[in-house]
Amino acid sequence: MNAAQASLSLLPRLPWPLPALAAWALAWLVWWLAALAGAPAALALASGLLAGLVVALVMPGCQGVWRRGLAAAGFPLSAFAQGAASAWPAWAWLALLLPLLLAYPLRAWRDAPFFPTPPDALAGLDRVVGQPQRVLDAGCGLGHGLRALHGLWPQAQLQGVEWSPLLAWAARLRCPWADVRRGDMWASIGVGSWAAQDLVYVFQRPESMPRVWHKACTEMSAGSWLVSLEFAVPGVTPHSRLQLEGRRPLWIYRLAARKPGSTAAQHGR
Ligand SMILES: C[S@@+](CC[C@H](N)C(=O)[O-])C[C@H]1O[C@@H](n2cnc3c(N)ncnc32)[C@H](O)[C@@H]1O
Repeated sequence: MNAAQASLSLLPRLPWPLPALAAWALAWLVWWLAALAGAPAALALASGLLAGLVVALVMPGCQGVWRRGLAAAGFPLSAFAQGAASAWPAWAWLALLLPLLLAYPLRAWRDAPFFPTPPDALAGLDRVVGQPQRVLDAGCGLGHGLRALHGLWPQAQLQGVEWSPLLAWAARLRCPWADVRRGDMWASIGVGSWAAQDLVYVFQRPESMPRVWHKACTEMSAGSWLVSLEFAVPGVTPHSRLQLEGRRPLWIYRLAARKPGSTAAQHGR
């Protein structure tokens, strides 16, 4: 490990979206300090851009093109918006923010940003898991995952749970054959419970996978399935892994009978 890598490893690993907020805040701080020191506007802007970019590239928790892009783009976009609309009163900014918060409450940011399941992402899943009767998309967003699941199993009872009221409402409209509820996918009772499901589908984020696995092991019965697009459960061997060329992998786990005294990590096969 060289000196640069050693110093990077000292950076705290903040949960998403804090790394993006840190990149935006630091970029604005650098811009403000440069402007305070009398730097020309273009130089202050370039310094802010550079600071945001560096944080996006090195900050643990900013891995992946999308996260880096979001972290790096915050400063230039907000600077552009400030410049274009600097005459707006504060309430106008708040009014702009409100629909965003409605669509995407902060709590949902922690679990996964909004990325939909591509239509063919689950191709071949039915050949591995057969015909589940009760299927849940945990964190169903606008219903893209539900539609892909419906394409595989039109007869199954499909459910979706989504934290954002606006996305849940839109998913209900887009997927009238599914039972879409607004709620917390982590709740262990009510809409959040996975106990009755034959298959639970998730497309969340890498950091959520240990919690997803623990919930599946605690609530789901032997023989049921947990399917995750893109992100594997660390340390657990999947039953199967499907991947079309150039596409996201699909990780398939089968819940085994829980042995007395076993831990969640052993509860799969
Ligand atoms: C990457 S999107 C996936 C959407 C959908 N499953 C699909 O594949 O098309 C993740 C979704 O999970 C939702 N989400 C995040 N945390 C949640 C929570 N605690 N309870 C319910 N939904 C949540 C987000 O609002 C977002 O819509």
